Amino acid sequence: MTTPLPRLSLLDRLIEEFDRGLRTVAAANVAARPNPAGASPESVTDPAARRHAAGLMRVNHAGEIAAQALYHGQALTARNPAVRRSLLEAARDETDHLAWCEQRVRELGDRTSLLAPVWYTGSFAIGALAGLAGDRTSLGFVAETERQVIEHLESHLHELPPGDERSRRVVEQMQADEERHGSEARASGGRELPRPVRELMRRAARIMTGTAYRL
Ligand SMILES: [Fe+2]
Ligand SMILES: [Fe+2]
Repeated sequence: MTTPLPRLSLLDRLIEEFDRGLRTVAAANVAARPNPAGASPESVTDPAARRHAAGLMRVNHAGEIAAQALYHGQALTARNPAVRRSLLEAARDETDHLAWCEQRVRELGDRTSLLAPVWYTGSFAIGALAGLAGDRTSLGFVAETERQVIEHLESHLHELPPGDERSRRVVEQMQADEERHGSEARASGGRELPRPVRELMRRAARIMTGTAYRL
């Protein structure tokens, strides 16, 4: 007779999540897919342009920390195991994004956001709350987040130094992945969030992006 595996208690799961959070924030993240920047040559040499590109990619890196935390927070409180699985699958793509952004910031001779633990913790809590609101709302939250992220990445494609092919390729691949995460969430039953919630999300994102550009 086989003994069934014990179900993880909430405390065990929180400890597991805490450990994952620490590793996301502190350790170098390893991408499963090759970096989309590939062998395209480094073309940003002007110091001011490099600083600006690094600031933008630091913002994107902070966004990916937040995305990682949101997905894991939502997965923690998801009701349906299939929804939980799809959230964790999307989170794996975010690890690639995280690693690519981190690499690009370093190539530009800069550092990632000092406030990464804050972005992670805050986003994890928001994700867990979204999950508690029910799976359809939680999936709607994914769809709305991704819509806003895609718009934000589009603005970066215009703001990056004109010749910065390496950053641009990373951003474009991220956009394509977020597009897929968003449409999968909608197809799985994600419901449109009320307008005030969408506005609140925009405002929170603006605070984060504004701060992470500098810090
Ligand atoms: Fe992402
Ligand atoms: Fe995503």
